[in-house]
Amino acid sequence: MSDNPYLEGNFGPISDEATAFDLPVRGEIPAELSGRLLRIGPNPVTEPGPNHHWFVGNGLVHGLRMRDGKALWYRSRYVRDDQVCETKGWPKTPGPRFSDLGGDGANTNVIQHAGRTFAIVEAGGNPFELSEELETVARSNFDGTLPGPFSAHPKRDPDTGELHVTGYFFGWEHLQYLVVGTEGRVRKTVDIPTPGRTMVHDCSITKNYFVVFDTPVLFDPSMLEKGYPLPYRWFEDYGTRVGLLPRDGEASDITWHDVNPCFLFHSLNSYEDTDGRVVLDVVRHPKMFDVHLDGPNEGIPTLERWIVDPKGGPVKEERLCERGQEFPRIDERRIGKPHRYGYCGAVGEGLVYGGLLKHDLKTGETLHRDEGPHRQFQEPVFVPRSDDADEDDGWLLAYVHDAKRNAADVVILEAQNFLGDPVATVELPVRVPFGFHGNWAPDA
Ligand SMILES: [Fe+2]
Repeated sequence: MSDNPYLEGNFGPISDEATAFDLPVRGEIPAELSGRLLRIGPNPVTEPGPNHHWFVGNGLVHGLRMRDGKALWYRSRYVRDDQVCETKGWPKTPGPRFSDLGGDGANTNVIQHAGRTFAIVEAGGNPFELSEELETVARSNFDGTLPGPFSAHPKRDPDTGELHVTGYFFGWEHLQYLVVGTEGRVRKTVDIPTPGRTMVHDCSITKNYFVVFDTPVLFDPSMLEKGYPLPYRWFEDYGTRVGLLPRDGEASDITWHDVNPCFLFHSLNSYEDTDGRVVLDVVRHPKMFDVHLDGPNEGIPTLERWIVDPKGGPVKEERLCERGQEFPRIDERRIGKPHRYGYCGAVGEGLVYGGLLKHDLKTGETLHRDEGPHRQFQEPVFVPRSDDADEDDGWLLAYVHDAKRNAADVVILEAQNFLGDPVATVELPVRVPFGFHGNWAPDA
């Protein structure tokens, strides 16, 4: 037994890659679901050191391939960073590197963009391009157009198909706004100076603004000397603020707006109201990496609404839901536009995974899907029934840890029958360790 909770139970790594074909299905997979349900998380390939942090494990990407109502295959594959290649005796992964200093792997999100699949991470590591079957192809800098680090949280504008991103690196005294075009090349960068070297996990967009977060989790090189692999910690006095950068503007156009000190990993969404104010829904953590330096565990994360007037004045802060929750997702056709529904993982103290929450932000109603403590949902992903279906008309897909089987299911729910029986459950033969993010990668 380890005394690090992020190495125990279903946080713990699985021993190797897995491959399985024609998986058993209860119910019926909707014929419209033709593509891959991708997911990624940390899976240390060697025995971690004494100060192991959940965020630094080598990336293991998971995929379930569905077509014609069948679950054709499940695969898990390491993202082939240097440590993985060395440990496994595999050839080194080719491709450009921005820096080796921030770690050279990718473990936080996996996306499909411009017809390619990328495992991605923040703070310095390059994206890794993956094959259809999740084998590592090469590190990428988007055909030479990515000048620095990328991020694990691009936001895709549903009207243009472009990705909007905050990049950061501990060696930089600025953040970097990036826009990646539909052909997979960076077409715009804006360097945004900040007073400290802050950790910025996510971003948000509205019709006219790119929304930047500046929070009190800062780079602290002394942590490296003390043997902590993730050299970021809480500095209360730094403050927390939201930046609004006009999407067609430059760094001097940004306005900053203070909020009560807190940390956030994730935004649910943001949009502009009829008065031109930015309505920003986020999952707010009261602190981060203050006492607990092995993972995100500094109090209950709650769903909050911040209303920011670009012209200035205090930000209106309102709690929308006080239950513990993380991994907020919406129907992504609503990114940057008014949204009614939000879907989150229900989490307890210490980010213990549980059921799912569905928020109706018009009525204020929250539904809680709870299948018992032995059924722990990871981040839900919404897939619309068709391109022109209404918001919320589609499916929620999630990897679920079944503690009785000690293996994962992929559960497919009708979003509009959130508490009802799943339309389909696919049984995987192995565990999928608790990890970070994933997406639906539809067939072209
Ligand atoms: Fe994230």
